[in-house]
Amino acid sequence: MKKRLISGMRPTGKLHLGHMLGILENWKKLQSTHDCFFMIADWHALTTGYRKTDDIPENIREMVLDLLAFGIDPEQATLYVQSHVPEIAELHLLLSMVIPVAWLERVPSYKDQIQELGQDIATYGFLGYPLLQTADILIVKGEVVPIGQDQLPHLELAREIVRRFHHIFGKEIFPEPVAILSEAPVVPGIDGRKMSKSFDNSISMSDSPDEIREKIKQTITDPEKIHKSDPGHPDICNIFFYHRFFSDKALIDTVNRTCRSGELGCVADKKQLAEILIDKLASIREKRIKLSQDTSVINKILTLGAENARKRAKETLVQVKEALHL
Ligand code: TRP
Repeated sequence: MKKRLISGMRPTGKLHLGHMLGILENWKKLQSTHDCFFMIADWHALTTGYRKTDDIPENIREMVLDLLAFGIDPEQATLYVQSHVPEIAELHLLLSMVIPVAWLERVPSYKDQIQELGQDIATYGFLGYPLLQTADILIVKGEVVPIGQDQLPHLELAREIVRRFHHIFGKEIFPEPVAILSEAPVVPGIDGRKMSKSFDNSISMSDSPDEIREKIKQTITDPEKIHKSDPGHPDICNIFFYHRFFSDKALIDTVNRTCRSGELGCVADKKQLAEILIDKLASIREKRIKLSQDTSVINKILTLGAENARKRAKETLVQVKEALHL
C-alpha cells in the first residue's frame, strides 16, 4: 500500500526555476512512490491577497500548464483546486471549534507576515490559515506532507490538532501527518536574491529562448570578476549555480577551472549557459504550448481531480460528523 501524500501550492501563475528545482522535481519523484494529492490552494491565496482576486483563474491555469508540462501525471496523482472541494471548508469550520486561538497566534509566520505586509492581513481568515492547511491535509487523510523548512510549524500544528481532536471526541480518525523535508535548494534569481515572483528576478519555465538569453545576460555574476582574465569565484556566482543543475559534469568542471584561471569570461559563459537552459526547457515549453491550445484538457483534468478528492473528503467528513453527533 502506497502512503497517502498531500501537498499544496498557492496559485502564483507561471512557475519559475525556483519552483521547478525546489518543488516540482520532488513531486515528480513522489508521484510514483506515493498516493499523491497535489492541490492548488486558491483559498490560501485569499488569506493574504483578498483585495485582488481577478487574476486567480488565470494563475491557476498557468500553473496547471506548467505542472503538466513538467511531468506531473494526472493518471498517477490527483491534481485539484482547493475551492473545488468544499468539504475542506466544512472540516475547517468544525476544527475551528476546538483549536485554541493562542495556538494560531503563536505560529511564527503569523506575526512575521503582519510585520511585513501590515494590518491589512490581520484578518480572521489569515489567522486561521494554518488551520485551513490542516483541513487540507486531514480531509484526504494525508500521511506524509512534503514541505520546506518554513512550513514545519504548520505541520506541527496539524499534528497537535489531530491529537486534540482524538482526545476530545474519543475516536481515532486521522493519521498524524509526518513531514517529508525536501532538500530543495534555494535557487537564486538573476539579481542574486532568492528567486521570487515578487522580486521580479525569475526565469520562468515557459520563457522563450530570447527571454532566457536576455535574462541570463542580465544575471549578476562574481562582482570581483570585471575583466575576462580576472580570477572568478564560481561558488558565489549565480550562473555557476545554474550550471550545477543544468550542465553535465564535464562542463561544470571545465567552467569551474577556467573561470578561476581567467580563461573563461562571464560573457562567453553566459552564452553557453543560456543555450543549455533553453535546450533543457525546450520539451517543457513544447508540451506546454500543445496543452494550452485546448483548454478543455485542463478543465477535464481538474474536474476529475476534484471528483477523486471529494470522494475521499466526503468519507472523512462522514466520520467526523459522526464523532461530533452531527
Ligand atoms: N501553505 C503552503 C505554502 O504556502 C501551501 C499549502 C496549502 C500546503 N495547503 C497545503 C502545503 C497542504 C502542504 C499541505 O506553501
